[in-house]
Amino acid sequence: MEPAWALEIKKGLKTKFIGHEVICYKRIKSTNDKAKELVESGAKEGVVIIAKEQIHGRGRLHGGQPRKWFSPTGGIYTSIILKPAIAPHQAPKLALVSAIAMTNFLRIKYHLKARVKWPNDVLVNDKKICGVLAEGSTQSGHLEYIIVGLGINANFDMEDLPKEVRETGTSIKKELGTEISLTEFLQHFLEEFERLYIEFKENDLSPLLNTYNSLLDTPGQWIRITTAHNTFEGIAQGIDPDGGLILKLADNSVQRIISGEVVDSKRI
Ligand code: BTN
Repeated sequence: MEPAWALEIKKGLKTKFIGHEVICYKRIKSTNDKAKELVESGAKEGVVIIAKEQIHGRGRLHGGQPRKWFSPTGGIYTSIILKPAIAPHQAPKLALVSAIAMTNFLRIKYHLKARVKWPNDVLVNDKKICGVLAEGSTQSGHLEYIIVGLGINANFDMEDLPKEVRETGTSIKKELGTEISLTEFLQHFLEEFERLYIEFKENDLSPLLNTYNSLLDTPGQWIRITTAHNTFEGIAQGIDPDGGLILKLADNSVQRIISGEVVDSKRI
């Protein structure tokens, strides 16, 4: 554990409840796994787990299997425990809220031209800089908790990542040409995250919809999406209030996609 770092983060934190308890690790298997363990033994909403390095960082599922999330030192790996009073089917919206918070934050704080790749990847110059993994648990049709995990490529060079992800990713260090303070990043990001989380709990996704759609990297572009059973191609229109992506197909019909992956896109 890294209690000194946790204290430093908490000292400058101006949030109402997110991060009032911060637990930092030098190295951990996965912050999402740790958050799950803690919430199941009673940790409350707002607890934040942070690691400097992960040895088994997990990404979103791909073909039923979790992708590996390479997590070298220099990155930021964090999981936030949330217990919103929402229906389980609303939970995926929190991943969208998290992606908006990160994109806004990278734009405001570091002047990076960050965009969102549906549903919740954050890109800079068309390359991935942050990924979001939201995992929840339900009991008798009730959402018990949701853990929002964020992996941010911060202070490392792309050469520190394996070849397979080097070309498709970027880091803050690469984009800015300099390293940033991880402590300051976390303090200010948690503030932006909390602001949007409270907005979402009070008013659902509607007030954030325009922001999300304005940050989307593909509006009006041709995209190809693979879902569990299908592939769709069409012009991306943006998301609807339930977080589904609206795609206009070649025959002018409209397809709503709830989960899938954008595998190709081009400006037309
Ligand atoms: C993705 O884009 O596939 C999501 C990546 C999410 C990675 C973060 S790093 C912190 C947290 N702990 C994990 O094991 N995964 C998430």
